[in-house]
Amino acid sequence: MNVLICGDACKELSKLPAGCADMGVTSPPYNKQENKKGWLVRNVKYHNACDKISEPEYQETQIAVLNELYRVIKPGGAFFYNHKIRWERGDMLHPIAWLAKTKWTLRQEIVWDRRIAANIRGWRFWQVEERVYWMHKPSGGGKIGEELESRHAKLSSIWRFSPENNNPHPAPFPLTLPFRAIYSVMNGRSGVVIDPYCGSGTTCTAAKLLNQKYIGIDISPEYIKMSENRIKQCEKERYLCEQEKELHTVKDTFKEKKLLKKNVGKFSPMKRNKKTLFVEL
Ligand SMILES: C[S@@+](CC[C@H](N)C(=O)[O-])C[C@H]1O[C@@H](n2cnc3c(N)ncnc32)[C@H](O)[C@@H]1O
Repeated sequence: MNVLICGDACKELSKLPAGCADMGVTSPPYNKQENKKGWLVRNVKYHNACDKISEPEYQETQIAVLNELYRVIKPGGAFFYNHKIRWERGDMLHPIAWLAKTKWTLRQEIVWDRRIAANIRGWRFWQVEERVYWMHKPSGGGKIGEELESRHAKLSSIWRFSPENNNPHPAPFPLTLPFRAIYSVMNGRSGVVIDPYCGSGTTCTAAKLLNQKYIGIDISPEYIKMSENRIKQCEKERYLCEQEKELHTVKDTFKEKKLLKKNVGKFSPMKRNKKTLFVEL
């Protein structure tokens, strides 16, 4: 099943059968109030969706969407939710505030180092990062889920790549983001990947390049068209996937290193310099 649906995320998700997807990735609208946030970045205004609602209403909608996704994704499945810390009149609005109220188990908070700040005023240290929350739907009694292969896990909880700047959509994420999530979690298995705010179709394109089926939802018919065209031409973006795949390799696994009595990186042997008391690694 490969489908692109034009409509409201929550309403369209509620029509899908339970357990029809294996995993998902998304970046919702951030409720950024459509204010101009500085000359360095584009002002985000979507084609036909308002990104300016009251914060309690926004958080309630996000909880409802995430709970629908929990139903739609199979037990044992995963959802990667890209968001950021925002401030409103000096108050910090942290995604954990609403994620903790959903049915999901929060598996990891990943920091996406975008290597560029959206605003270079000095009210705070420049915010160069966004977050990606890896949510897990437990299967059976366990909350932990399957272990990642070392070649994926070694990429660490800090993801460093630049935002997308070659895309007419006002707020796309780079292909690397959904690609890394899908490639690591599906690990060669095939299944269905869902994105309820699919925008220009980045998640669906990554899914197609990884031989997965996809379900994309967006409220804008213009962005649905954009996604259709992009997915048709996905081969043009395959080189990005090949670059990312090269990072998912290990020479020796941790176990093999231990067997070969190589340094496993746990603690390097230390030499104490008696005169200075400095420690050399
Ligand atoms: C941050 S963008 C997602 C961009 C996408 N990750 C990409 O790479 O192109 C959020 C998207 O949510 C869509 N949107 C806003 N409100 C929506 C709603 N109620 N239901 C579904 N989509 C909605 C917007 O049209 C926009 O494309």
